[in-house]
Amino acid sequence: CIRDSLDARIWSRTVDRNEDGVATVGGLDVTRLAEEFGTPAYILDEDDFRARCRAWADAFGPGADVFYAGKAFLSRAVVRWLHEEGLNLDVCSGGELLTALDAGMPADRIAFHGNNKSLEEIERAVRAGVGRIVLDSFQEIARVAHVAQGLGVRQRVLIRITVGVEAHTHEFIATAHEDQKFGLPLAGGQAAEGVRRALGLDGLELIGLHSHIGSQIFDTSGFEVAAHRVVGLLQQVRDEHGVELPEIDLGGGLGIAYTPDDDPREPRHIAKALHEIVTRECENAGLRPPRISVEPGRAIVGPTAFTLYEVGTIKPLPGLRTYVSVDGGMSDNIRTALYDAEYSVSLVSRVSDAAPMLSRVVGKHCESGDIVVKDAFLPADLAPGDLLAVPATGAYCRSMASNYNHALRPPVVAVRDGAARVIVRRETEEDLLRLDVG
Ligand code: LLP
Repeated sequence: CIRDSLDARIWSRTVDRNEDGVATVGGLDVTRLAEEFGTPAYILDEDDFRARCRAWADAFGPGADVFYAGKAFLSRAVVRWLHEEGLNLDVCSGGELLTALDAGMPADRIAFHGNNKSLEEIERAVRAGVGRIVLDSFQEIARVAHVAQGLGVRQRVLIRITVGVEAHTHEFIATAHEDQKFGLPLAGGQAAEGVRRALGLDGLELIGLHSHIGSQIFDTSGFEVAAHRVVGLLQQVRDEHGVELPEIDLGGGLGIAYTPDDDPREPRHIAKALHEIVTRECENAGLRPPRISVEPGRAIVGPTAFTLYEVGTIKPLPGLRTYVSVDGGMSDNIRTALYDAEYSVSLVSRVSDAAPMLSRVVGKHCESGDIVVKDAFLPADLAPGDLLAVPATGAYCRSMASNYNHALRPPVVAVRDGAARVIVRRETEEDLLRLDVG
């Protein structure tokens, strides 16, 4: 049984196996899902998604704000779920903003990010009345102020600062501040200068500072250093301008379990740690603790989905490993090739007690780096037509999917209470040809 044999954190909460050994999700057999929707397909557990939203909202409570980072995966159904579960939404492009507004997310619950927002995007966001724009450069401070003033509004904004901490998995590394494209560096005074400029512009209401330290982080020590430095700037702003900025946003980046070796923290532990860190830092600085916001993307949607593939060619390389080809690959999951990401994989269309076989799950693209799961043990009786599932593909897989080799991007199928529905349909050959205008 998946629930018995694998760490439950890797699979969404309704995944199980039926008496025939076929994996189920939301009460539905994966074999039926494959028949009805085809493979590859992302199968998203709606109950799990909603439960994670609630866990984050409850953990942070009414005194803080949780913004789901839409870049991890966004669709109109997801926007509606977020809205219903009381979360806010972080978007970072005109396209994400369009999707959010089209699906009815109230504009004042949207935060707009990006290091190079176009004038059109800024105008769209300000006109729509987004709750906050996160300013990323001196140019943008002036540009957003100009747009807002032209429209006769005061736009609520935060300034994104780079605190010199970049966190990756279990460690954090102090980085050269000038060596990244996001935010205004604290070091050298650009962040303080950004605050100075924003406070002096009529079109802007500066409500706080923003910091995002990295991705797939498992401990809070990086956040601790970040909070310390952000609060240091709050203090400097108070001393220089007599203004206590009311908010800080500590960004996203909380890790999830991709394999049984990963041990992520529960939202309530993260919320407690962040509140304690900020409260302590503010006490030391003699500041009123600001309202905190966070922007989890992966930690909400990542574990909610798995990718369902059908096994095709199986190629044993004696003394090495067996290459198991599936009907997708780097076009539906670029993360292994791009970040050396580790995933797990299971045979889900049946159970097998055959011996374990060292395998590498690869895609069907014309590239040897087209690897989905680098190292896995699959049963030695694996055969073409078997179904494999790669769990924890809810974040940054569909949203980073491509048409490489003219692959048709897979659908996202949401399951809940014995019912399945397509929330993003599979691309078709007509879609491919429609863009190619000849
Ligand atoms: N807030 C800001 C300002 C961000 O830049 C990001 C992610 C997030 C929140 C959400 O981070 P999360 O909680 O999802 O880790 N494509 C990469 C991840 C890039 C993340 C970019 N920014 C991946 O597949 O791992």
